[in-house]
Amino acid sequence: MSSFATKLIRWQKDHGRHHLPWQNTRDPYAIWLSEIMLQQTQVSTVIPYYLRFLQCFPNIGSLAAASLDDVLAQWSGLGYYSRGRNLHRTARLIIADHGGVFPRNVEVIRQLPGIGRSTAAAIAVFAHGQQCAILDGNVKRIFARYFGIDGYTGEKKNEILLWQKAEELLPGKDGNGTEAGIEAYTQALMDLGATICTRGKPKCSSCPLLQDCIAFRDNRTDKLPVPRPRKPLPERETALLMLMKQERVFLEKRPAAGIWGNLWCLPEMPVSESADEHCMRRFGMKVAPLARMLPFDHTFTHFRLRIHPQPLQVVSCPSAVTPDGSKSWITFDDALKAAIPSPVRKLLMQYACHDHYAPVEKQL
Ligand code: ADE
Repeated sequence: MSSFATKLIRWQKDHGRHHLPWQNTRDPYAIWLSEIMLQQTQVSTVIPYYLRFLQCFPNIGSLAAASLDDVLAQWSGLGYYSRGRNLHRTARLIIADHGGVFPRNVEVIRQLPGIGRSTAAAIAVFAHGQQCAILDGNVKRIFARYFGIDGYTGEKKNEILLWQKAEELLPGKDGNGTEAGIEAYTQALMDLGATICTRGKPKCSSCPLLQDCIAFRDNRTDKLPVPRPRKPLPERETALLMLMKQERVFLEKRPAAGIWGNLWCLPEMPVSESADEHCMRRFGMKVAPLARMLPFDHTFTHFRLRIHPQPLQVVSCPSAVTPDGSKSWITFDDALKAAIPSPVRKLLMQYACHDHYAPVEKQL
């Protein structure tokens, strides 16, 4: 009888992924970057961002030397921007406190901003071949099914149990395999979760763990893992002002705290206000409405935001560039290259794809 780890390692050799851009390197910087990007984002989405980011900032030194604005511009569209901010902060911290060398010790890695227990373990495994257990969302799903864990995997007592299982199952720890192959084992868990033990319609007939999987035995793969008990998300509303002047749009840099921190954004306005009065009071601008755009929802972790776009032609305005450079008129091309939130990108693209430059009266 071969062990859990042995089965996975064997499966990985023939059926796992071997040519992802962050594989076949021991460079902790490249591996760290990949693990951060992959935290909340799928492999196929990450790949182009990862390649561009590495080209722009090929090592810790170049990332630390870059401005936060430039780093967030490279992150723009990936979402969860605190990952980009933490990456930049960590690069500077590694230069200042670690002599520019990415730490080796998993406990030290875990203290870095934006790095939790599982991410620290993945970095230690792939960069240094250390014997560490990972437990990300995919692995939780595999274990919940394999062991038939019948509660929400985010619940504390289940997390403790899952970490215990993750440690016990490491190659060499179950008295059956050897310690060799921690990288293949870890990659196997990730690959199995992404390609076989998927959330919907798992491909159990191709799974190397099928024989001992409790969820498969009990025909409960569709019931496990138990989904998070969901409270309905609170809803908020906001208007985003798309102020247009000579084919340029007005963007403001948001403060560091709060949603879209440090990103360039369309000015926000409470939905209860009138755009005319708001623009005059806040920017001294006289505006006229442009063709209407439909409201849409953007979901954050903790609330849903209903966005009401307000395209407006600027009829007159005072100079709008502040001395600290936190506001500016910017061409669509430059805006799309800047650190902007996804819904702003979506709006600008939508707007640019239609000829919206005429005031609304002329389009009727
Ligand atoms: N998800 C998280 N880390 C990963 C990795 N190194 N390869 C593929 N998917 C992942």
